Amino acid sequence: MVELSLPTNSRPTTGKTWSSGREASNNKKFQIYRYDPDLGENPRIDTFFVDLDKCGPMVLDALIKIKNEIDPTLTFRRSCREGVCGSCAFNIDGTNTLACTKPISEITGDVKIYPLPHMPVIKDLVPDLNGPYSQYRAIEPWLQADTPAPNRERLQSREERAKLDGLWECILCFCCQTSCPSYWWNGDRYMGPAILLQAYRWIADSRDEATGKRLDSLNDGFRLFRCHTIMNCTNTCPKNLNPGQAIGKIKESVFQRL
Ligand code: SF4
Ligand code: SF4
Ligand code: FES
Repeated sequence: MVELSLPTNSRPTTGKTWSSGREASNNKKFQIYRYDPDLGENPRIDTFFVDLDKCGPMVLDALIKIKNEIDPTLTFRRSCREGVCGSCAFNIDGTNTLACTKPISEITGDVKIYPLPHMPVIKDLVPDLNGPYSQYRAIEPWLQADTPAPNRERLQSREERAKLDGLWECILCFCCQTSCPSYWWNGDRYMGPAILLQAYRWIADSRDEATGKRLDSLNDGFRLFRCHTIMNCTNTCPKNLNPGQAIGKIKESVFQRL
């Protein structure tokens, strides 16, 4: 049975308002989800003020400034700050996106930052991604071919290579995965848009010879067909990819084999 309201011990309470930065004339208010499993308390929303005259332009710059100058216990993932590692994905201003490529100036009003939705939270803005990563392992995301490897690389025509565009760019940030209602309700059985886009990346690869096996393993009422084409995934992807379309192409490939 789907639970439509948060359990009492998951409801965020009003947290601490930090005074630092409040005096600056060009300050911006940040409301940030905090959760520390060691405290045995409900999550809370802390309020911070950041002087935008002394901060870089992106939401990630503000998070780093808060961690460096106000509260060093604020916990979040980040690495590249260039939109390529996928680790700084949060729910910002109501949308899943990357903090390092989201300009603060695009947000009117307070900046609200939550972890990616509908995932267990390890601490503050860090979700537990073991579920999607085990699903990623299950699609065997590597090239499989029985044909012996040539002396040089396995060649593709330009047209064959072009079929991978829009797929190889995925950085596994899971913004799409965690915006998908079907994944919220059935994340234990439905692969979700990020994993299905990655699966299609190998199905579409002319050098891969495991297409039949890959389609057999996805042809399932839950693993693939739990996608109801709601398209939240495509609307939220910060790399402008189209996981909804990739899922549609997998379905087409399954039907073509019938
Ligand atoms: S199109 Fe499919 S994968 Fe994308 S949000 Fe909708 S149900 Fe989820
Ligand atoms: S398809 Fe887009 S939103 Fe989904 S994991 Fe890949 S880069 Fe992130
Ligand atoms: S820090 Fe790597 S994508 Fe944002």
